[in-house]
Amino acid sequence: MHDNETGKLIALSAPKALTDTRGRPLSDLRISVMDRCNFRCPYCMPRETFDDRYRFLSTNERLSFDEISRLARLLVAEGVRKLRLTGGEPLLRSGLADLVGELSSIDGVEDLALTTNGVLLAQHAAELAANGLRRVTVSLDTLDRETFRRMSGGFDGLERVQDGIRAALEAGLAPVKVNAVIQRGVNDGQVLDLARHFRGSGVILRFIEYMDVGNRNDWDPGRVVPSRELRDAIVAEYPLTPVAGNYRGEVAERYAYADGAGEIGFISSISQPFCGDCTRARLSSDGVFYTCLFAVNGTDLRTPLRQDASDDELLGQIRGSWRRRDDRYSELRRMPATGQPLRKIEMHYIGG
Ligand code: GTP
Ligand code: 5AD
Ligand code: SF4
Ligand code: SF4
Repeated sequence: MHDNETGKLIALSAPKALTDTRGRPLSDLRISVMDRCNFRCPYCMPRETFDDRYRFLSTNERLSFDEISRLARLLVAEGVRKLRLTGGEPLLRSGLADLVGELSSIDGVEDLALTTNGVLLAQHAAELAANGLRRVTVSLDTLDRETFRRMSGGFDGLERVQDGIRAALEAGLAPVKVNAVIQRGVNDGQVLDLARHFRGSGVILRFIEYMDVGNRNDWDPGRVVPSRELRDAIVAEYPLTPVAGNYRGEVAERYAYADGAGEIGFISSISQPFCGDCTRARLSSDGVFYTCLFAVNGTDLRTPLRQDASDDELLGQIRGSWRRRDDRYSELRRMPATGQPLRKIEMHYIGG
């Protein structure tokens, strides 16, 4: 029987915080709504693999908005306070603003954000904001047209991404953040340009260390630029002062420009892993619940959802998965004892 009495259930089950084997609560849910993307960034969806023959999920395989909302409601009742929509590219999911409307109306949601490549953002920003989206984060690794083309897998979309960022600022989707993944020999020469461009603009730029996500991005540790190196280069031109974190488990280390030109951040998953405070779960677009970005396995929630499982049954799966959780991949970053390479899930599928 389908249990629609979620409200009653929440009241009965809310008091005890759900924690994993390391005492970490579940407070943050990243929801991938679309496994496809209109870019082919070599570090995420290299063109050689993600070509015309690649089998993406079919519409029916993806969770519907009602299914996503139902799971989000249950997870919020378990302590989740922050929701982030991701992809692939979430704005390729038609009617996304409707889902935003449903999620923003859930009692207990304190933050609702979207991570996007920004190409389609200008046309959607106002409607997303009107439906309750709080803020956006746009991925942009360079301001150089040719480097942009290379890093996005052949797209000439730099101006459209910049239009998207402007539209997000105008729509009040604040703070607008920009994520720049830096790779040595690819875009490390653009770091100061990016910092200069976004200083004083109201946008918070965050530099991200290139990570070994998925199995197909041909990760090379030699291409990781440690955040410390980037920070030193920026400080030489623009002095910075540290800023306290916004919340437990925040992935970015924050700094303010000493001259008042705003904020900048560094996400150092390679040089300074942050698993100790990791409160994030991920829901893939086909309804698998993962407890780590680098997970090998997850808990399928779509099957029980589509077999009319009750809220209690779904909660049982979610709680069991989180209680068993022992993930700290970034701290370990090594192969399992068998010596076999891990078959990690792909970034475009789990949303970063
Ligand atoms: P805020 O809510 O604005 O702090 O966003 P966020 O930094 O949590 O999310 P965003 O989508 O902007 O991700 C920034 C970068 O951090 C991306 O490269 C993500 O892949 C990475 N990231 C986010 N969460 C995790 C995590 O749990 N583990 C690791 N290793 N990386 C993460
Ligand atoms: N390493 C670090 N960050 C990555 N992202 C995608 N692939 C990688 C990687 N290999 C970033 C995207 C986006 C965020 C969700 O993850 O640029 O901003
Ligand atoms: Fe690039 Fe993001 Fe698309 Fe991956 S999901 S290919 S990182 S734009
Ligand atoms: Fe969390 Fe896994 Fe990232 Fe560590 S590697 S911070 S456990 S998602």
